[in-house]
Amino acid sequence: MVELAPSILSADFAHLADAVQAAERGGGTIVHVDVMDGHFVPNITLGPPVVRSLRQATRLPLDCHLMIENPDLLIPAFAEAGADWVSVHYEACPHLHRTLQWIEQHGMKPGVVINPATRVDLLIDILPMVHHVLVMSVNPGFGGQKFLPLSLAKIRRLRDLRTELKLNFRIEVDGGIAQDTIAQVVEAGADLLVAGSAIFSDGHAEQNSRSLLRAARMAAQKVPPDAKILQISAKTAKKRPHTSNKKVAR
Ligand code: DX5
Ligand code: ZN
Repeated sequence: MVELAPSILSADFAHLADAVQAAERGGGTIVHVDVMDGHFVPNITLGPPVVRSLRQATRLPLDCHLMIENPDLLIPAFAEAGADWVSVHYEACPHLHRTLQWIEQHGMKPGVVINPATRVDLLIDILPMVHHVLVMSVNPGFGGQKFLPLSLAKIRRLRDLRTELKLNFRIEVDGGIAQDTIAQVVEAGADLLVAGSAIFSDGHAEQNSRSLLRAARMAAQKVPPDAKILQISAKTAKKRPHTSNKKVAR
């Protein structure tokens, strides 16, 4: 099932609750929260205190995308603040296996993110540990950048690996997702669609979310049958506790 994850990076930070609620009315089902530290990426955004406030504003899962160095140090604080999903960059984690375990030990769903220059195959050994893989389709750090088509091959490769390895991690894409790019990423196999400026830049978050989701769902009808079978089995897996690699709740 494709889902829309509005990224609050392009929202009015003085009115985040309103922004999240508007995107939710338009069909957004995951709130994507971009955390930047001014070191791993050349920009600074927000941290656990804002996540704590967002937690009061919505019941949707808070998907925290950590674009930070040394994420292990802050994982307990994000858990405490109410984060549901936490993804860390392959490029920022010398001990990625340990970091993913650390996220899970704090009761959150672990995800891994790759930059445009990073190959999907570097993730093969840790794919069984993750709830989602986030493919950056821009270089991280800023909203409103142009979509990089090289991400399409990465998404396809992940979809193939997921089938081959009989896993059920979700495939998320982030950067430059808008009306003119959303169909391509869904057809390639992405099922979690992050969009920031396409939703929040013009004050019409509800309508923008609705029309993006409509375009995504139309494209999803073209997804190959084997991927659809996986999506159905994942729904069944939802009811099971998250105990082992192949039973990750989606
Ligand atoms: C970029 C962030 C994205 C960003 C996407 O570093 O990770 O989540 O908000 O913004 P758009 O959709 O405008 O490319
Ligand atoms: Zn992001």
